[in-house]
Amino acid sequence: MTRHFLRDDDLSPAEQSEILDLALELKKDRFSRRPLEGPQTVAVIFDKSSTRTRVSFAVGIADLGGVPLIISTASSQLGGKETAADTARVLERQVAAIVWRTYGQAGLEEMAHGTSVPVVNALSDDFHPCQLLADLLTIREHKGALAGLTLTFVGDGACNMAQSYLLAGATAGMNVRIASPEGFTPNRVVVADATAIAEKTGGSIALFTDARTAAVGSDILVTDTWVSMGKEEEKADRVAALGPYRVDADMMGLAKDDALFMHCLPADRGFEVTADVIDGPQSIIWDEAENRLHAQKALLTWLLERA
Ligand code: CP
Ligand code: NVA
Repeated sequence: MTRHFLRDDDLSPAEQSEILDLALELKKDRFSRRPLEGPQTVAVIFDKSSTRTRVSFAVGIADLGGVPLIISTASSQLGGKETAADTARVLERQVAAIVWRTYGQAGLEEMAHGTSVPVVNALSDDFHPCQLLADLLTIREHKGALAGLTLTFVGDGACNMAQSYLLAGATAGMNVRIASPEGFTPNRVVVADATAIAEKTGGSIALFTDARTAAVGSDILVTDTWVSMGKEEEKADRVAALGPYRVDADMMGLAKDDALFMHCLPADRGFEVTADVIDGPQSIIWDEAENRLHAQKALLTWLLERA
């Protein structure tokens, strides 16, 4: 049966680990897998802006022997005159996989339902699972194993990155802490799902309102923009509420001495993180951005083997 990747917990712990192993293999030997030789085409659809996702999928699909077809939703019929389900029926007869950056998770589910080619979430309002594969790969490279590490996300706990850390971190057996103010806490169902996964993997989930308490003893501190795509009109309220959650040198000092700083980018220096931290020696943001390429190539290879 065709496998899709719409949220982080679509992969079991063993499957997540297998994809990360393959990503490391592909990072060492970039052109060693050619599942798209033909060439076959992969549709990569954007309802929202992107730099990293667009480039890493385009380059990765070419590395795998295929052709990327980058579609801007605004210049297509999707979302205007045509449903996700009808779009999928058209695409599945011509492309090997569909990658889609969109707003609601329900649209992705509609796109994937009954579709014979893999559908991949390239960021939704709820999750950013491709980013998480890259982040876990980056942490593995810097720290060795993932299980047992404490990763603390500070900021908008309801954003796609925080919610993906909950699910993907729990799957990897990590201790995931989310520090956010009231009104910015993760979806309760996602927290419950992550907690259930953590109970099986030996990880843990903990929510905090005080960022500094959460930071103490962390192996990794992470944040994300306070103003996710689609939330631009809320900027002033968000900056006011999230001010105490800025990652700065003092907060990094509460984490372990060898703690790492991560951010999926794009970043607003001076808002969610100070420039000395994001551009400092503990920051691994450029490895993180590069690893989108390797992680997504591994994911596509793995999904295409099962399609
Ligand atoms: N991190 C990330 O997804 O970046 P883009 O929005 O540039 O794709
Ligand atoms: N939370 C951010 C992530 C950007 C890659 C957003 O959705 O805009």
